Amino acid sequence: MKKISLFVFSVLFFMTASAQNIKVHEKFANTARKLDTKNTLQTIAFGSCNNQGKSQEMWKNVVVNKPDLWIWLGDNIYADTQNPQVMADKYSLLKNNLEYRRLLACAQVVGTWDDHDFGWNDAGKEFGMKNESKRLLLDFLDVPKNASVRNREGVYQSFVFGEKGKKVKIILLDTRYFRDSVERTSGINNKYLINAEGDVLGEKQWAWLEKELKNSDAQINIIASGFQIIAKEHRFEKWGNFPKARKRLFQLLQKTKPTMPILMSGDRHIAELSRTTLSGLENPLFEITSSGLTHTWHKKREEPNQYRVGDLVIEKNFGILKIDWSGETPKVSVEVRGLGNQLFMREKIF
Ligand SMILES: [Fe+2]
Repeated sequence: MKKISLFVFSVLFFMTASAQNIKVHEKFANTARKLDTKNTLQTIAFGSCNNQGKSQEMWKNVVVNKPDLWIWLGDNIYADTQNPQVMADKYSLLKNNLEYRRLLACAQVVGTWDDHDFGWNDAGKEFGMKNESKRLLLDFLDVPKNASVRNREGVYQSFVFGEKGKKVKIILLDTRYFRDSVERTSGINNKYLINAEGDVLGEKQWAWLEKELKNSDAQINIIASGFQIIAKEHRFEKWGNFPKARKRLFQLLQKTKPTMPILMSGDRHIAELSRTTLSGLENPLFEITSSGLTHTWHKKREEPNQYRVGDLVIEKNFGILKIDWSGETPKVSVEVRGLGNQLFMREKIF
């Protein structure tokens, strides 16, 4: 009897464990481009909020721009589940999508997550399935089994691309795994209450981030966050709901002074460029928000953002960062584009 139940348990365990893998169709195996950090980056594409059940027609427009790298900024799928199998299936759907495969064939891909791919709308450190979610995200991104991120908590990672003098550092923050909770009011125009003492990154990630910024010899330093950092007037998720953490991040930038820092974020179902100045920093601090790839606001409404540069984009979109390395210092411009590769915004930021 003992032997039989052990056998049944083993079969069930094997079935559950193997069922939670992201299944990639045989014909697509090994067709994704491997990371090659020796590559100097000239075109970086990025985006967020991609419902795997909706049309994936945006990818062909991303590909037209010939990006060297794609950065996922979160809500890469809408998992919204506490069942790892459901999450794995949703990742498989995206990974086997022919449109998405076009991106994988031409660009290197890195990324972080936000709430819906973490597993639950607005979830933070309390979310029970976060370790399964982490494994599934890293598998989706083809992160090697021996990568250091697999052996610590959270999904934060950094990469340095490019030859000497043309380096771009990509710092991918994890704004979910360690994030303190926030309370939300009820009703139609519900909003988050400020968590005055709350944290976003957790102490280990803060220490890691300080080291990453302090030791960076990159000419451009990109910091990606699932949700917005600079904009703070809207009622949705933002670093502004954690004012102590937002201030700490800005103070860390002032202390470590990375060269040409650029913030990136998603989550909002809009695109916009925000700009602020931090005393002691040579350049203004820009944040480009790009969201979403498959869905955005249904109609335009006013949303104050004292830091916004240019217009609010409510069409489906992705972002492009173009780097011109021909001069003594790099020139950087940012674009927001959409279906038909339509250009909605272009701004020079450095
Ligand atoms: Fe989100």
